[in-house]
Amino acid sequence: MESQTPLQALNPFMPGAGLQPPALVGRTGELELMDRMAARTKLRLLNRGIMLYGLRGIGKTVLLLRMRSIAEQRHMATIKIEASADAGKTYDALFREIPMSIARIGKPDLREKVGGVFSHVESISFDFMGVKAGADFKGKESFRTESYRLQLLIEGICRELRKADSGLYLFVDELQEMNDGPLGDLITIQHEMGQQNLPFYIIGAGLPDLPGVLAKSRSYAERLFEYREIDKLDDISTRKGFQEPARNSGRPFSDDSLSQLVDLSQGYPYFIQAYGAATWNASDSNPIGEDAVAKGKSEALRMLDHGLYMSRWQKATEAGRMYLRIMADLSDGPVRTADVARRFRSRGSAASARASLIADGLIYSAGYGQVAFSVPRMAEFVRRVMPEVEQPYDGRR
Ligand SMILES: Nc1ncnc2c1ncn2[C@@H]1O[C@H](COP(=O)(O)OP(=O)(O)O)[C@@H](O)[C@H]1O
Ligand SMILES: [Mg+2]
Repeated sequence: MESQTPLQALNPFMPGAGLQPPALVGRTGELELMDRMAARTKLRLLNRGIMLYGLRGIGKTVLLLRMRSIAEQRHMATIKIEASADAGKTYDALFREIPMSIARIGKPDLREKVGGVFSHVESISFDFMGVKAGADFKGKESFRTESYRLQLLIEGICRELRKADSGLYLFVDELQEMNDGPLGDLITIQHEMGQQNLPFYIIGAGLPDLPGVLAKSRSYAERLFEYREIDKLDDISTRKGFQEPARNSGRPFSDDSLSQLVDLSQGYPYFIQAYGAATWNASDSNPIGEDAVAKGKSEALRMLDHGLYMSRWQKATEAGRMYLRIMADLSDGPVRTADVARRFRSRGSAASARASLIADGLIYSAGYGQVAFSVPRMAEFVRRVMPEVEQPYDGRR
C-alpha cells in the first residue's frame, strides 16, 4: 500500500463546491462573453449583465470566479458577494466590499478619485429626505437610507471609472436567495446606470428558478441581463475534463476506462471530479485501466454522498424529508406540487414543507405548480437513505 501514497498525492481531481477544477472545460462561450463585455466597457459601450443558472454541482461558482478574474485582468473594478435572505447582511456585504474594490484599483490617481466618492457619500445625512434611523425602526423603511447610499455610491464610482475606461462589476453567487429589498435595488440601479450610460453590471449565478425570481422582483429584469443556462457538459468536453488533468499529471486513462467514466459522470462536472479522483486513487498502473473504474466506484459514490447530498439532506426537517421522499417516489424529474400535497399529511403542511425546502435551496419551483430537485440525481439518493416511506396519509382518506 505504501507505494500508492505518492501516486495518490498526485491526484489532480478534487470534488468540492467552488473549487477550481484542474481543467475547466466546455465553458468557452461564457468566458468569451465576459471578455467581450469587458472589452466593450473599455470602449465605453453599454452591455447587459449576465445571469448563470443551473443545478447544483454543474459549475456555476467556479465559472463566476473565472469570469471575475477575466474582468480583473481587463482592469474592471470587481466586487463579489454571496447573497443572503437577510437584507441587512446583503447591504453590509456591499458596503464592505465596495471600498475593498476601490482599494484594489491599480492606478493611484483613479483610486483617490473613486475613494473621494466614498467619503462624500458617507458624509451625506439623509435626514432631509424624511428617513429616520433608529433601533426601533423596523421593516422595509429602515433600509431606505442604505438604498439611497448604495445608488449614490455606485453612480459616483461609475462616473469616475468610466472616465478611465473601466466599470464596476458586481458578482453575486446564489442570487436566487437574495432578499427582495436589496435585489430590487441592485436591479434598479443597473437599469438607471444604463440609462445614464454608466458601466455598472451584475453578474449573477443561481438555481434554475433565478430568471423567474428576477422577473418577479423587477419586470424589466429580463431585458437587463444575458441569461445563460449552465448545463451538463457534452461528451467531448467531458472526456477532456477527465483526460487533460490525468495526462498532465503523467497518468492518462485508457480508452476503455475513459468511455466508462464519461458514461458514469453523465457530463455533470461534480461527478467528473468525484469519479476522476476515485478512479485515480484505485489504480497504480499507467495508463489507468478499466479495473480501476470498477474498483473506484464506491469511493466516488461516497464522495458524492458527502459532498453533494448528505449535508443538504441533514438540513431538511422531518416534514421536509417526507416531502423529498414523496417527490423521489413520483419522479426523478419535476413533479406537480398538487401530486405531492395529495400524498402528504395535509395540504397546509405540504405547502410549508415545500416553502422551507425552496428557501434552503434543496428544491426549486420548476414552472407553474411544479417543483424539482436542485441537485442532480438527488431522487436516487433520497430513495437510498430513506428506503421505506412511512405512511404519510392521515388515515382518513
Ligand atoms: N467546467 C468544468 N469542468 C470540470 N470540472 C468542473 C467544471 N465546472 C465545475 N467543475 C467542478 O465541479 C464541482 C462543482 O462546481 P461548482 O462551481 O461548485 O458548482 P455549482 O456552483 O454549480 O454548484 C467542483 O468540484 C468543480 O471543480
Ligand atoms: Mg455554487
